[in-house]
Amino acid sequence: MVMNGFETIKVVADTQMLPFDCGNTELNGFLFNDAKTHLKERIAVTYLIIGEGRTVAYWSYLNDKISVSDMNGNRESFIKRIASRLGHEIKDKEYESFPAVKIGRLGVGKEYAGSGIGSHIINHTKTLFVSEGSSSGCRFITVDAFKESIPFYRKNGFEFMSGRDRKSETRQMYCDLLQM
Ligand SMILES: CC(C)(COP(=O)(O)OP(=O)(O)OC[C@H]1O[C@@H](n2cnc3c(N)ncnc32)[C@H](O)[C@@H]1OP(=O)(O)O)[C@@H](O)C(=O)NCCC(=O)NCCS
Repeated sequence: MVMNGFETIKVVADTQMLPFDCGNTELNGFLFNDAKTHLKERIAVTYLIIGEGRTVAYWSYLNDKISVSDMNGNRESFIKRIASRLGHEIKDKEYESFPAVKIGRLGVGKEYAGSGIGSHIINHTKTLFVSEGSSSGCRFITVDAFKESIPFYRKNGFEFMSGRDRKSETRQMYCDLLQM
């Protein structure tokens, strides 16, 4: 992903982390304390946009799925919201889940917030996981969105998974990679 002369790199064991502050202590902490451990343990892979001597933004990917249990076990909701996107009839017991990629963390440096970088990362993800060269099937993007970032995800085509987390600090959201 190329952006305004910034560089995108994958975090590896000896990546030197440049300063980063997105205004959220937990997200800042993940980058400096956990990103490399998650890579080593194959839990998540983290990418950075770097430039101007700092980390401009970062995000991480891990494998996920959307299941009937994400809809409170309600198969009717699962079929209506998720399975119906296939555009053909779904038989009983067919498709208990669909493959997804989760954006585990996403943060844009305070200095760069609101300039389109977050949306660019979402669009890049959409292109990456539906490309014909992809090595595995993946139909959805999922996120656990902090309340403050919900307008950002809505703007980028994400919907709520269910109403059960309506009052939580984070809400499960998803986006169909084939309906961009
Ligand atoms: C939320 C975030 C990833 C959005 O990235 P971004 O590059 O700022 O967003 P874009 O410029 O592509 O999109 C702009 C939209 O994002 C939202 N947004 C912009 N600045 C934001 C901020 N500081 N915090 C939350 N949302 C913000 C607004 O809805 C905005 O739409 P508008 O311009 O119509 O009002 C980024 O602001 C951020 O890292 N915030 C702090 C950490 C966070 O909440 N991360 C999400 C974890 S789930």
